[in-house]
Amino acid sequence: MRLDCFGHKYGLAMTANEFMIDNTSKSKERVVAAKPEKDEEQFDLTLRPKTLKDYIGQEKIKEHLRIFLGAAKKRKEPIEHVLVYGPPGLGKTTLAHVLAHEMGVQIKVTSGPAIERAGDLASLLTNLANNDILFIDEIHRLPRIVEEVLYPSMEDFRFDIVLGKGPGARSVRLDLPHFTLIGATTRIGLVSAPLRDRFGITMRLDYYETEEVEKIITRSAKILTIKINDEAVKEIANRARRTPRIANRLLRRVRDFAEVKGDGAVTIGVAKAALDVLEVDSLGLDRNDRNFLLTLIEKFRGGPVGVSSLAAAASEEEDTIEDIYEPYLMRLGMLARTPKGRVATPLAYEHLGIKGEGKLL
Ligand code: ADE
Repeated sequence: MRLDCFGHKYGLAMTANEFMIDNTSKSKERVVAAKPEKDEEQFDLTLRPKTLKDYIGQEKIKEHLRIFLGAAKKRKEPIEHVLVYGPPGLGKTTLAHVLAHEMGVQIKVTSGPAIERAGDLASLLTNLANNDILFIDEIHRLPRIVEEVLYPSMEDFRFDIVLGKGPGARSVRLDLPHFTLIGATTRIGLVSAPLRDRFGITMRLDYYETEEVEKIITRSAKILTIKINDEAVKEIANRARRTPRIANRLLRRVRDFAEVKGDGAVTIGVAKAALDVLEVDSLGLDRNDRNFLLTLIEKFRGGPVGVSSLAAAASEEEDTIEDIYEPYLMRLGMLARTPKGRVATPLAYEHLGIKGEGKLL
């Protein structure tokens, strides 16, 4: 078995058995996973733009934000509650930090599953100052009981808490600072209607244009003092799934490769070699994506097939399929969701080099 400089297996020497073993390691270590890897948050912090001016892409959203930021500043009021949704890795957290910076206020960051009880929310909210921002990531995973006490907090900045139990129990009202809640989710459909209705502003982040991803890579390379040429920037951008987090991760991996195999400069040759070793193809698909499509094509004749059957056959969670695999494959036009189930499009067959139904060329 051959190992690359990162300790990954690669190349034609891999046997079918090794392939299967490797294949079970699944999406956690995927270089194209849109979720942050362990230790990656620190890098994200270094590269994260602080102002709207430095934030590349999402032009429509920035235009709206400039207007209501300006209005809120003029009125000396906190901004309205904001709900941001869209696929992972596109900058929901970054945008929340930019808003805090632009308003000159503090931001506290937490997530839906981290707030287990009403008391957890009370302590977060009472520790905020006026105009501060509370950022709740994965807000669709907020427990019901917490969600219910969040409503009056968002609407009237009050928090009713019950102290004690039984006949002696009494309700105490806490007055809260006038805060702004920024909620983020990858699954807008799972945010309850009453919660959605309490946000004044709802914004959808979409995948970036490739040229925007190129600008992000160039900016990150400058911050990280990586020597890279335009061709190499383009090569990385093409394989980064239109997602800044993936672009920045690929950039770091390519830099590592350049340092080990060369003099540290990232040329087109170095970028291509590194990305090939990482098995990220020309459209940004990795082995997991290709296997997912292969399962659909070979086991279900390209569909239509329901997500649960597909999940069982691909040994994946349904959520992983819906959150991770499908959004980008649909965006590429390789996968379609029809009323009868998932379907692989001719583009998927073409990209995988499969002719007709399930026959390898
Ligand atoms: N780094 C990650 N996302 C970014 C963005 N949208 N603009 C600039 N730098 C970024």
